[in-house]
Amino acid sequence: MKNQVPGFSVFILCILSRTVLAKVDPLYKACSVRETCGDGQTIAFPFYIREKPFCGYPGFEISCNSNGNPVLNLNNIDYIIHEISYNNQVVRVSNAAVSETNNSNASCIDLSSHRIQNLSLPEDRFALLSNQSELVLLYNCNSSLPGELLRYRNGICEDKNKTAGTVLALVRNDANLENASRECSGDQVVAPVDVYAGNGGGFGIGEVIKRGFLLRWTASNCSDCAESGGKCGFNGSTYHFKCFCPDRPHGLQCDPGKANGLITKVAVGNTAFNSSS
Ligand SMILES: *[C@@H]1O[C@H](CO)[C@@H](O)[C@H](O)[C@H]1NC(C)=O
Ligand SMILES: *[C@@H]1O[C@H](CO)[C@@H](O)[C@H](O)[C@H]1NC(C)=O
Ligand SMILES: *[C@@H]1O[C@H](CO)[C@@H](O)[C@H](O)[C@H]1NC(C)=O
Ligand SMILES: *[C@@H]1O[C@H](CO)[C@@H](O)[C@H](O)[C@H]1NC(C)=O
Ligand SMILES: *[C@@H]1O[C@H](CO)[C@@H](O)[C@H](O)[C@H]1NC(C)=O
Ligand SMILES: *[C@@H]1O[C@H](CO)[C@@H](O)[C@H](O)[C@H]1NC(C)=O
Ligand SMILES: *[C@@H]1O[C@H](CO)[C@@H](O)[C@H](O)[C@H]1NC(C)=O
Ligand SMILES: *[C@@H]1O[C@H](CO)[C@@H](O)[C@H](O)[C@H]1NC(C)=O
Ligand SMILES: *[C@@H]1O[C@H](CO)[C@@H](O)[C@H](O)[C@H]1NC(C)=O
Repeated sequence: MKNQVPGFSVFILCILSRTVLAKVDPLYKACSVRETCGDGQTIAFPFYIREKPFCGYPGFEISCNSNGNPVLNLNNIDYIIHEISYNNQVVRVSNAAVSETNNSNASCIDLSSHRIQNLSLPEDRFALLSNQSELVLLYNCNSSLPGELLRYRNGICEDKNKTAGTVLALVRNDANLENASRECSGDQVVAPVDVYAGNGGGFGIGEVIKRGFLLRWTASNCSDCAESGGKCGFNGSTYHFKCFCPDRPHGLQCDPGKANGLITKVAVGNTAFNSSS
């Protein structure tokens, strides 16, 4: 009899979980699958991948590159996602054109064959954190520079193909910016970076660009739904946030006591069996 009691409670549990699983809402089930591009970062609401827009929020689609990194496309420019902070709604990204290149020369960054472009944000979704710095990249600069400007090309690979000329990188508030731009006839590109990059150049431009910058995002707040046991999502036809729960989709959060109530009852039942044995 002592041995039969635990066996019996396992049997009950099986029946219970079977009935629960049979009725689980398919959208809840689909959005419960942990998604990743392969590098270990979890892709969750508001981000989504693999044809599951209903598990995310419009404007937050992510693709995966061949290295298994998530890639965010902002106004037609690809950015690699390095880190997603779901609690703070902040994401760290870097320009994919530069970050994905095979570093044949680790001591310099190639800004000529893989051009960085000006950041252009879908402003209703993403905003640069206010503590980010801006690097100004100057293209097609005079190869014979005055001595005080030489340091601004440190860490930038020589342009072997002569498509970009000499490239200089300065922080936006560098006192030499005006004189430096007079030496350059090409594009000016502004690249945000997450450092305090003081005056003077020579701050490890390759590392700084590859480390990327921080964006804060705006989407529906997922925490009430998640805390009620649901999976956040979106209905594209009604264009509304949805909280997918085990029983059915809800507006904001799962019914208190429904999904959790069952677990509580089973737990209480188990305790009762255990204490009687
Ligand atoms: C990058 O370098 C690695 C190792 O050096 C090599 O296996 C790989 O094929 C290279 N990838 C590209 C795109 O050149
Ligand atoms: C130079 O250009 C050629 C042809 O466009 C390309 O194959 C090569 O990779 C380029 N080299 C560099 C260092 O960018
Ligand atoms: C580059 O700088 C040198 C020395 O200051 C100057 O003589 C030359 O005209 C400059 N070239 C261009 C294209 O500005
Ligand atoms: C690597 O970059 C350094 C610094 O720019 C340069 O001196 C060196 O010639 C480069 N090496 C190769 C193989 O391109
Ligand atoms: C810019 O160049 C001018 C003339 O060459 C020079 O007098 C001035 O000191 C330079 N500005 C800075 C900030 O170096
Ligand atoms: C990038 O933005 C700066 C101003 O922020 C502008 O001066 C520059 O022309 C832009 N560059 C390109 C290539 O559009
Ligand atoms: C900017 O702020 C974020 C969030 O508070 C922080 O993680 C990051 O280190 C800060 N960056 C700089 C350069 O201060
Ligand atoms: C999301 O909502 C929770 C609870 O309502 C709140 O504590 C949290 O600060 C909110 N997060 C953001 C980023 O608004
Ligand atoms: C979106 O809402 C419509 C109308 O209520 C419903 O028919 C559809 O199944 C919902 N789709 C998702 C993905 O929630």
